[in-house]
Amino acid sequence: MRANTGRHFLQIPGPTNVPDRVLRAMSAPTIDHRSAEFAAMAREIVAGLRQVFQTSGAVTIFPSSGTGAWEAALVNTLSPGDAVLMFETGHFATQWRNMAERLGLCVDFVAGDWRHGVDATVVEAKLAADRSHSIKAVAVVHNETSTGVASRVAEVRRRIDAARHPALLIVDTISSLGSIDYRQDEWGVDVSVGCSQKGLMLPPGLGFNAVSDKALAASKSATLPRSYWDWAPMLAENKAGFFPYTPATNLLYGLRESLAMLFDEGLPNVFARHRRLGEAARRAVRAWALELVCCDPQEFSDSLTAVMMPAGHDADALRQTIVGRFNMSLGTGLGRLKGRVFRIGHLGDFNDLMLAATLSGIEMGLGASHVPFTPGGVGAALEYLASN
Ligand SMILES: Cc1ncc(COP(=O)(O)O)c(C=O)c1O
Repeated sequence: MRANTGRHFLQIPGPTNVPDRVLRAMSAPTIDHRSAEFAAMAREIVAGLRQVFQTSGAVTIFPSSGTGAWEAALVNTLSPGDAVLMFETGHFATQWRNMAERLGLCVDFVAGDWRHGVDATVVEAKLAADRSHSIKAVAVVHNETSTGVASRVAEVRRRIDAARHPALLIVDTISSLGSIDYRQDEWGVDVSVGCSQKGLMLPPGLGFNAVSDKALAASKSATLPRSYWDWAPMLAENKAGFFPYTPATNLLYGLRESLAMLFDEGLPNVFARHRRLGEAARRAVRAWALELVCCDPQEFSDSLTAVMMPAGHDADALRQTIVGRFNMSLGTGLGRLKGRVFRIGHLGDFNDLMLAATLSGIEMGLGASHVPFTPGGVGAALEYLASN
């Protein structure tokens, strides 16, 4: 039996639930992308994105998913054979490494257990040992969406500085932007990679790079082939509010609206809301006597929680039961965590009652699937929400 009544709960860690306000904005008729009206909107959006990345530098918008923005970050700053330091924090870090190798980069991929974030002491040690400065970039995933582990980017920056190394710092902020505090300029990030379908509460289809002056300078001499992803024509056209090719006009309507929503709430409040809801979700998991994938409380992600299944129980069977009975989608386990983990998305357009319903669906689903657990997770979360 499949429950189709009521609203579908899209509790995967992106794409996230798109607010009605954004859906309505996107339903406006498409306009001429070479008109003055469009240019005014595009300039407003770029200014808004700078605020979200917390940068005064350049921001590019590609009609792409996050993977395209990953590629743009690499091909604009690096040359064939360049050494890049990356960390195996999970599925997405692994995918990005694979892309870098396919592009002809030499990746030093520091092995990880998919339960911890980037070890910043390793960043310092590797860079300090690289006397000839052959490592051209350190590329890390801020919030590993496959594990619910958030790496400490400010600490990575401190360690690069401690090693007095000129490598660029490139950061994937795909599932943290607009939900977990992220500071491009303060943290000295050279390229940040973002996209539309997570904290920005939009459908998939927009990819972003926030670019420091140092990265821009590197792009002048970088020789990896690039055309569609080239920052130069994009930034030149953006100055007047235009794009070198057809932009995703209606997604940009949506982005203008979602930025307005984030600024109405205030970014510090947005981050605090995610922190509080994240903590409530983790309390539920602990009360169920289930195990979080993330081992270090300093690295808990506030945008999603990944949960280990008890041995012998399949996470995808649980997800199937929950979508069938309660019309709610949870995130699947990715890569080596397939079947062993389910992920709860608690980011974007999300509030206390949506979390309460999400956790209720999981608690009922655990019971219906005969997974061994201790009832009471929903109660633990509600108790925390009520007193905080
Ligand atoms: C951290 C992270 N990086 C990269 C990607 C890839 O983005 P996309 O699927 O939009 O290409 C994702 C997608 O979920 C992600 O979560």
